[in-house]
Amino acid sequence: MSSQDIPEENLPAAQDTSHGAVKPADEQNPFADPGLPPHEPRVQDIDERAAKRSERTVALLFTVSMLATVGFIASYVTIPVDKSVYVWPIGHISALNFALGMTLGLALFCIGAGAVHWARTLMSDHELADERHPIEAAPDVRAKVMDDFRQGAKESVLGRRKLIRNTMFGALALFPLSGVVLLRDLGPLPGTKLRHTLWSRGKLLVNMNTNEPLRPSDLIVGSLTFAKPEGLEEHDHGFQTEIAKAALMLVRIKPDDIKDRRALEWSHEGILAYSKICTHVGCPISLYEQQTHHALCPCHQSTFDLSDGAKVIFGPAGHPLPQLRIGVNDEGYLEALGDFDEPVGPAFWERG
Ligand code: FES
Repeated sequence: MSSQDIPEENLPAAQDTSHGAVKPADEQNPFADPGLPPHEPRVQDIDERAAKRSERTVALLFTVSMLATVGFIASYVTIPVDKSVYVWPIGHISALNFALGMTLGLALFCIGAGAVHWARTLMSDHELADERHPIEAAPDVRAKVMDDFRQGAKESVLGRRKLIRNTMFGALALFPLSGVVLLRDLGPLPGTKLRHTLWSRGKLLVNMNTNEPLRPSDLIVGSLTFAKPEGLEEHDHGFQTEIAKAALMLVRIKPDDIKDRRALEWSHEGILAYSKICTHVGCPISLYEQQTHHALCPCHQSTFDLSDGAKVIFGPAGHPLPQLRIGVNDEGYLEALGDFDEPVGPAFWERG
């Protein structure tokens, strides 16, 4: 229904609604300024039933937004992270991500659509010409701004359309709760996880390549072997997290060549077990010079002297590599005699 369909007697009294700077062309301004066209009343300006319909539509949109926000929170709490769902034409996707995206999108869309529909159908649509004037905060300008603000508040019919006002406040108040719920993802706190690895007294040292427990005879002088704790398998859940802390680098050096006393005490017949994780930014160390006993990190060339407690002799790493104390069990296999006595890897050093 347009204003053309309204009986003429219902239309507001005719008035000259054209406004703006209407100026004929002259020598200095060769183009005439036609001003603004006359104002056309909308159906909602004339028919209170149409205005009521618009009001209900706006309220419905804000209400749907509220429901969608509640749905977002409910989805976050109830849908398991590993549940998937088939959505045509995308295929299988995470049910949780799908539900969160849909509900959050719907909540935002309905707030926007409600506001736009409200502005287009119920707020004043009179076009106004605002003549340019000098930019200065004169008292009369401030007074005019306040007048305009009051006029805008009045024309938004916020006071009169209480249903819209209340549902809008409800939608806007509830929506930020989505962000509050997401704060839960910041936890849980790490606790002592960063201080401990899978190593403990009696855990066998297992060759990373063959998956076999290591004996001292498997390691010859000059060799470099990588090891992991017994029981940690590649297909285990959390393998990457655990191996990133527990990966070991084993070297065998003639005991007489080991300069650091504690390193010698914590070794077994010259077999030294150091963390494989560089103390600079955590790259796995993989290069070893058997003549100099230097281990080199390929990322930024930090160099550690494994014969001298893995002290840093070059590069940006700030700390020696942590050493694992090892021994041999009754069956002749290499075993850990405890966990590392300090956190492995980078940065955490400074916090620990
Ligand atoms: S990570 Fe090893 S030197 Fe940077």
